[in-house]
Amino acid sequence: MKIGFIGVGKMASAIIKGLKTTQYELIISGSSLERSQEISRQLDLAYANSHQELIDQVDLVILGIKPQLMETVLTPLAITKPVLSMAAGIKLSRLAQLTSSELPLIRIMPNINATILASTTAICANELVSEELFATCQAICDSFGETFAITEKDFDTFTALAGSSPAYIYLFIEALAKAGVKHGLTKDQALAIVTQTVLASSKHLIEENEQPHALIDKICSPGGTTIAGLLDLEKTGLTASVVSSIDATIQKAKEL
Ligand SMILES: NC(=O)c1ccc[n+]([C@@H]2O[C@H](COP(=O)([O-])OP(=O)(O)OC[C@H]3O[C@@H](n4cnc5c(N)ncnc54)[C@H](OP(=O)(O)O)[C@@H]3O)[C@@H](O)[C@H]2O)c1
Repeated sequence: MKIGFIGVGKMASAIIKGLKTTQYELIISGSSLERSQEISRQLDLAYANSHQELIDQVDLVILGIKPQLMETVLTPLAITKPVLSMAAGIKLSRLAQLTSSELPLIRIMPNINATILASTTAICANELVSEELFATCQAICDSFGETFAITEKDFDTFTALAGSSPAYIYLFIEALAKAGVKHGLTKDQALAIVTQTVLASSKHLIEENEQPHALIDKICSPGGTTIAGLLDLEKTGLTASVVSSIDATIQKAKEL
């Protein structure tokens, strides 16, 4: 299978890094012929002389351009191949308007962790996508992380839980590290301790297939330190505050 990228910025480059570990043949087309040549040298990839030339020779087109450029870039093209879009906020129905209602279309939502091949990626497709093509697109996403097939109506929620949440998780890590500094650790020490603990705590949930509450109960010994801190955390409303921030994220995604 030959895959062509139109637009190769931060996210497409991360995806290409994952795809380079697979058998797929890759080709790119950037914002100009000069940019295509430059990116081709940087990433050691073939380039096409134009977007149309790329489309005509590939089996799947991946769009790596910004959502606001989709209309300008796609309108002059005759798109005859399945299209995979990663553009935030562009629904499959809109993609069909911009390409063709006759085409198999796939929508994905990767996150920033694609850069370390550990993206949490959502995928959905229109009814013209065969099981085989859907499996191929899932395999493409698996090359740069973990893939979750969800219905398109859940994309905004997914965007909040996986796209935006790394920022919220970093804020939590930063807050814990600041508390360590307050109590005498250096910032570097505190960050190293907290980061390792967050990593291992996630790993623990996954590897032991545990529920967070089961592990919370295990850590909270009767009359101990953790239950004292945990109740203080809920006094300031951590759960309500997190849910409220996810509500705000989803609301904003719906407005875009
Ligand atoms: N970054 C993320 O964390 C993230 C997460 C989820 C989804 N996404 C989606 O991924 C897509 C790309 O985002 P990004 O963060 O990778 O943006 P980006 O780094 O700005 O990449 C966009 C690329 O599009 C190229 N481009 C501009 N005009 C073009 C044209 N006419 N033809 C072909 N290429 C053109 C730009 O080329 P130049 O470099 O020459 O300007 C740039 O390399 C967006 O749709 C975004 O919604 C991104």
